Amino acid sequence: MVHPCIQTIHQEHASISSILSSIIAMLQRGPRGDEENFFETLRAMLFYLDEFPARQHHPKETEFLFRPLRGKSEALAEVIDDLELQHVREENAIRDLQQRLLAWEYFGEARRHDFEDEARKYIHFYHEHMRLEETVVIPEARKLLSDAEWKVLDDAFASNSHPLAPTVQDEPAFRKLFTRIVMTAPDPIGLGHGRGAGHGQ
Ligand SMILES: [Fe+2]
Ligand SMILES: [Fe+2]
Repeated sequence: MVHPCIQTIHQEHASISSILSSIIAMLQRGPRGDEENFFETLRAMLFYLDEFPARQHHPKETEFLFRPLRGKSEALAEVIDDLELQHVREENAIRDLQQRLLAWEYFGEARRHDFEDEARKYIHFYHEHMRLEETVVIPEARKLLSDAEWKVLDDAFASNSHPLAPTVQDEPAFRKLFTRIVMTAPDPIGLGHGRGAGHGQ
């Protein structure tokens, strides 16, 4: 059976993955003389990664996917402990990355490699995190969760905002931010409609 919450988790992972891949593409491309749009776009990408997983994605996984699974298998409990710890680490790491981006923007090239190195580590770390959820946790959930637990999980992931994060207005705000990133990211990463688009091509 295809559970709607699993589809939602895959879709949310796909959104996160596309931003991660876009950051790599931005780093490979570099500012090319349009620093203003380059840094604005990267800032928006990092902001999305800070806001969306922390407020929308991680709390729902922790509360409605990990919690019912904990205690059903000893091996899985260890994986879940690691993933929960990674949620916390990821939220600290993205703030650190935002700071390093500002350092590159304001202090110049001398700080570029520092940001690039940390960004690549963060992206690798995040892909690994999602891979574990998709290849270990979700398959185990399919075996272990009851119909009643799936119903709770489906309802939680179907809601536009998470009850544990009441400050989040709604999902459309995230979609709007995602669209803005796509619109302003330089071609071919996005549509290149940002200020100065076409400069340095
Ligand atoms: Fe997660
Ligand atoms: Fe996830």
